[in-house]
Amino acid sequence: MSAEYDIANPGAGELFESLRAFGYDLPTALADIVDNSISAKARNIWIDMFWAGRESRITIRDDGEGMGEDELRQAMRPGSLSPLESRAASDLGRFGLGMKTASISQCRCLTVMSKTVGSPLAVRRWDLDYIASVGNGEWRLLKGDGLLRDEERSLLAEQKQGTVLFWDRLDQLVGDVSSDDEVAQKHFRERADAVKQHLAMVFHRFLRGRGAITLHLNGRPIEPWDPFLEDSDKVDPMAAESHVVDGQSAEIKAFILPHHSRISAEVHAAAAGPKGWNAHQGFYIYRNKRLLVAGDWLGLGMQKEEHFKLARIRIDLPNSADLLWQIDVKKSRARPPAALRKDLQRIARTARSRASSIYRHRGKVIQRQLGSSDVFLWSHLTKRGKNFYKINRDHPLVRKVLETAGDKAPVRALLNLVEQTIPAPLIVINNAETPDALGQPFEDSPAELLKAMEEVFSALIEDGREKAEAARALVMMEPFNQFPELVASFLEKAGRMKTD
Ligand SMILES: Nc1ncnc2c1ncn2[C@@H]1O[C@H](COP(=O)(O)OP(=O)(O)O)[C@@H](O)[C@H]1O
Ligand SMILES: [Mg+2]
Repeated sequence: MSAEYDIANPGAGELFESLRAFGYDLPTALADIVDNSISAKARNIWIDMFWAGRESRITIRDDGEGMGEDELRQAMRPGSLSPLESRAASDLGRFGLGMKTASISQCRCLTVMSKTVGSPLAVRRWDLDYIASVGNGEWRLLKGDGLLRDEERSLLAEQKQGTVLFWDRLDQLVGDVSSDDEVAQKHFRERADAVKQHLAMVFHRFLRGRGAITLHLNGRPIEPWDPFLEDSDKVDPMAAESHVVDGQSAEIKAFILPHHSRISAEVHAAAAGPKGWNAHQGFYIYRNKRLLVAGDWLGLGMQKEEHFKLARIRIDLPNSADLLWQIDVKKSRARPPAALRKDLQRIARTARSRASSIYRHRGKVIQRQLGSSDVFLWSHLTKRGKNFYKINRDHPLVRKVLETAGDKAPVRALLNLVEQTIPAPLIVINNAETPDALGQPFEDSPAELLKAMEEVFSALIEDGREKAEAARALVMMEPFNQFPELVASFLEKAGRMKTD
């Protein structure tokens, strides 16, 4: 009688090659490995990146609880623990995949060596090239001390417990180059720097305070990067809120960071973060204090804009909320549950409005300092007791258009036509019937407003004005004078004039 099922094991080589394409990069892959060390209660984690061309190697060593022979064999299996399993509250893992997928995304040969207080050294290796050369689809996990040289085994000699991962054949990072390839070596160093910045950010709450751990990169401890400048008394925190959805709590606290004029240039530059001020605005999601998302408006219908960049909002989640918040394998994404969207929107709106009021205030200060010498696009004339509305030919943008037009006649004709055909009667009637229904300038298109601002600014510069003077003209000019916060942040971003 034939069996009622087939065994449909995936081929090891094929599946591993696919798992490589999860979308990790070097910093996110290493962060996933660090998670494991922290979950294993390590006090120290040493990451070393050795440059040797195609022989380059990365090792990650910790002094955590380690694994015995059986544990290590189990841990090396992809899907070592089901995501549905409940976990210790301090566990940073979820899918039982990280150690394998993160490593294999960067290297073709992963060796893990581990020991515990009660058991001797255990060694296991996934070697993708070996599996491919055997070619029969078997999941051959290499084992035995013989896989490592004496000096490699001695890495754990001084520790009573701990784990080392060896990443070899780093084809993503270096590929097939010789050790004197300077371009490749420079790239290698730059990636080390990206690793440092990413880990400083993701683990900042583990690197400071009571029970802090130390993360060493190439022999140097990594300093934490705190997005909320909690050590500074210049930060304006909003009241913390606690929300429970489906039995899972979320602690939310917004921070309004200080304008750069109130802190030192170094503190301001350091607070920007790896991707810069603008990118790092929005929500920061932490799972067991480990950062998953570093500045995002979470699809709540809000965009990142310069004048909101001082708003950073912290959300703390427990690891039991993984499913509810749709945490992904790479731990780089989280989606708020629908039941929380309204509250998050409210908190975000308040934080954004406070952050932008700092810029509005800066813009008003500039306006006050300058008095009023407004530049209007429209002027109002009366002739023979009648009202006319004219476009100001001295407006910098109008002047630029006229000057750069090869044949000026059509532009002049167009300006005349616009002036002569303003639908004034219609405007008057509409305004009288529904006085509150008049659209505000650029109401629906802040991006267009910025574009116009840029154009006018460059027209002023081309007109021969100094940058500082052009900036001053901009804050006084219609309609930009209605948006001091946008002007202030535009000028600051352009680095064209100090706004303090
Ligand atoms: N550095 C380490 N020290 C001790 N145990 C580890 C270490 N790294 C991994 N492990 C063990 O291997 C298992 C599998 O790790 P991983 O593939 O990252 O999945 P997850 O972290 O989701 O459980 C972990 O649950 C843990 O038991
Ligand atoms: Mg893990």
